[in-house]
Amino acid sequence: MKIRTFKEADTERVVSLWEQCSLTVPWNNPRKDIKRKLDVQPDLFIVGEKDGSIIGSVMGGYDGHRGWLYYLAVHPDWQQQKIGPLLVNEAESRIKKCGCPKINLMVRTGNKKVMAFYRSLGYEVDEVVGLGKRIIADEHGESDILNRWRQKPEILESL
Ligand SMILES: CC(C)(COP(=O)(O)OP(=O)(O)OC[C@H]1O[C@@H](n2cnc3c(N)ncnc32)[C@H](O)[C@@H]1OP(=O)(O)O)[C@@H](O)C(=O)NCCC(=O)NCCS
Repeated sequence: MKIRTFKEADTERVVSLWEQCSLTVPWNNPRKDIKRKLDVQPDLFIVGEKDGSIIGSVMGGYDGHRGWLYYLAVHPDWQQQKIGPLLVNEAESRIKKCGCPKINLMVRTGNKKVMAFYRSLGYEVDEVVGLGKRIIADEHGESDILNRWRQKPEILESL
């Protein structure tokens, strides 16, 4: 597998990877997320390519205080072959080169099985609660699913 920086031409293959890994949610347009990332630290958006297919991704960032990881994905056919650690290591090394002292990431409450994976890479649970506020709605705006989720966050587990 070749690990390299994302290119715009990878967009559709990466969106398809994220869909197959259940990383897309109704209130985030993945193509818009990609466009935004291409404007800010595009070199921290990394993919794994094998025989012309995109089989993994991770989107990193450094905000001057903390580094962040998003959209870590390994294609289901390639999971449990230690590709995830390779992607995380590459993102960590690029983020560290920016001078970043600590990396944070968020795991959806419904995605419990990924916790052991992150623990094995040295990530620990921080005693904080993540808060968020949407300040630009993607084109679907306030979808039904988003309103349902606000009333009953557990529905994420069934998405
Ligand atoms: C999470 C994900 C990226 C992991 O990538 P992967 O390449 O399949 O990782 P692996 O299963 O090879 O795990 C690598 C190491 O993590 C550890 N690990 C993984 N699952 C573990 C578990 N259930 N218990 C203990 N250790 C575990 C092990 O040390 C493992 O190495 P080992 O196989 O020698 O034991 C991948 O499963 C994925 O894309 N999932 C769907 C998308 C997702 O949930 N992304 C994260 C969003 S926060």
